[in-house]
Amino acid sequence: MQVTEVISNDRIVVLQAQLGEWDNLNHLLVCLSTKQAAIIDPFDGMFWQEVCTKRGWNLREVWLTHSHWDHVKGVKKTKALLGQEVQVRSHAFERQRGWEDEVDHEWTNEANTHTSLTLGSLTFEAHCTPGHTPGHTTFIGEGVVISGDCLFLGRCGRTDLYGGDPNVQRATLRYLREQMHGLPEDWLVLPGHQYVLEDGQTPTTMRIGDVLDSNEALLAVDSDQAWAALPFLAFEDSMAEQARRRRAKDQ
Ligand SMILES: [Fe+2]
Repeated sequence: MQVTEVISNDRIVVLQAQLGEWDNLNHLLVCLSTKQAAIIDPFDGMFWQEVCTKRGWNLREVWLTHSHWDHVKGVKKTKALLGQEVQVRSHAFERQRGWEDEVDHEWTNEANTHTSLTLGSLTFEAHCTPGHTPGHTTFIGEGVVISGDCLFLGRCGRTDLYGGDPNVQRATLRYLREQMHGLPEDWLVLPGHQYVLEDGQTPTTMRIGDVLDSNEALLAVDSDQAWAALPFLAFEDSMAEQARRRRAKDQ
């Protein structure tokens, strides 16, 4: 499994690896002064524990962007290996989609607001960015925007799964655009999955400035027509069908 060092300086190391049959991008944040590490959306708990052990880091935090199975699959194993040494955090609004897994801490900040979180001497913001799921969270700080399935590099996440909402996603993308405009252009956006861009390239990281200039979803949010024409907000597949059935049951 290939692990890429996407950021490395005297404060922080950020590692990225693509894991599992859905090609999930996992991100490990490491505070170099305290050797504490946080894994975002672990697909494989053993894999990341081994990476940390080999490099002399202590895995202390699991931060979840959202509760879809491919983003939480490695949580149980991580907890089984490390117990109370590791704190699992997610947003309380993920319960709205019926997710029941145990976590150690739930964020309760409102949609399109943030709360602070620390890793050793590093500080990050956990922004509630719903639309793909009700409690989707985007992590911003220390040179990175870890955007899960909210914002991909060239597009955004689908909004037709249970708990998703295109109007909420549109408001979130406006909010996120504003947040990113206030950050240095060379900070990196690190998404939960890699998709082919219009020009055929398949990067797994992109500078904020380039995402703001080229992301199809961000470029569409100010126009009703352009937003409605985006081809990736909803799909005709078994997951969409499942979501439709579940919504019908709710009524
Ligand atoms: Fe997802």
